[in-house]
Amino acid sequence: MFDHLSSLPADPILGLLATYRADENPRKIDLGVGVYKDEAGHTPVLQAVKEAETRLLRSEETKAYVGPAGTAGFNTAMQELVLGAGHPALVGNRVRSAQTPGGCGALRVLAEFANRAKEHATIWVSDPTWANHVPLLGNAGLQIKSYPYYDRATSSLKFDAMVETLKQVGEGELVLFHACCHNPCGADLSREQWQVLAEMAQKQGFTPFIDMAYQGFGDSLDADAYGLRLMAESVPEMLVAASCSKNFGLYRERVGMAMAIYRDADSADRGQSQMLNVVRGNYSMPPNHGGAIVEAILTDAGLRANWEAELTEMRERINSLRSGLVESLEKAGAVGDFHFIQQQKGMFSFLGITPEQVQKLQQDYSIYMVDSSRISIAGLSRNNMDYFCASVAEVLES
Ligand SMILES: Cc1ncc(COP(=O)(O)O)c(C=O)c1O
Repeated sequence: MFDHLSSLPADPILGLLATYRADENPRKIDLGVGVYKDEAGHTPVLQAVKEAETRLLRSEETKAYVGPAGTAGFNTAMQELVLGAGHPALVGNRVRSAQTPGGCGALRVLAEFANRAKEHATIWVSDPTWANHVPLLGNAGLQIKSYPYYDRATSSLKFDAMVETLKQVGEGELVLFHACCHNPCGADLSREQWQVLAEMAQKQGFTPFIDMAYQGFGDSLDADAYGLRLMAESVPEMLVAASCSKNFGLYRERVGMAMAIYRDADSADRGQSQMLNVVRGNYSMPPNHGGAIVEAILTDAGLRANWEAELTEMRERINSLRSGLVESLEKAGAVGDFHFIQQQKGMFSFLGITPEQVQKLQQDYSIYMVDSSRISIAGLSRNNMDYFCASVAEVLES
């Protein structure tokens, strides 16, 4: 039965990581994998998470099943984190959600849910988008089309072209937006641009589907949700996939939320029964541990304050790396204008070099990034910044 299966190439990022690990150069730098790293190159367990786990270990009384939606406490706390307490959609009792295995679980559940509502519906995704969006959404049955988003030649948004393309999108179609910290390009929509898109969604009737994987990594928990919240005030129906992997540092615990906003409470109840049925037919119910940690942090004032302080520290480190990088590239004499890196947000930016230059950085300098020249900013540090910038300057000149 399985003999005829051919082998697939390794995921490019995981393949890159394996080559990086095998590299014996002590100066090697990994800018491929999308996890936060501190100054020492570690991805630490947050103190607020450790404390929540300690409390859970003491207080937990059962491991009995929770159910396909996860706990009510988790869902309420996360809905408020994402939408902001008192959002009109929450007040109107139009929001339903389920705890999922990571943001990926949320994307997949929502895609299957949308495909139930309208089989093979079209979903428009940005060009470029996170590579895993394509299988997560497409394997659920949705048809994928793309809209222009980022111009590599000028390292800026192609907003006019985006709007022009999205003018043709109407009712029964979905448009995927990155809430903040766009992966892979780091270029986010301004508040004015969100306003334009919210008006288009309202007028044309398409359904926004917002992926929020980095809330708190850009400007702040609230500012990063600005566009999402505005959109949720403007349209009757919307989907949101939220991830707790990065902002809670819970990557391997697999925790996220699939949220839908409906026209009214009655359609919300019907929709939720379908959503939970999708979950039941997939993984039945989410793992509990990560969700319990998030719930404990968000519902305890002390833990929450500690978590927000740790999140701020991660964000500020990334932002100072961004300005440090621009400065050091200039100092190293790297050819080109890299100021765009300072304006962009979150974990990623495209350096804007060719695949050949990316290869040269890897072969001659042990600096690892994916072919598109997307770099994971948190892989840089005060220790490796000068080496990195000098290497880039040399490669750009050769
Ligand atoms: C844009 C985007 N969406 C969703 C995710 C989902 O991540 P996870 O499933 O690890 O929560 C990621 C993770 O890298 C991402 O970059």
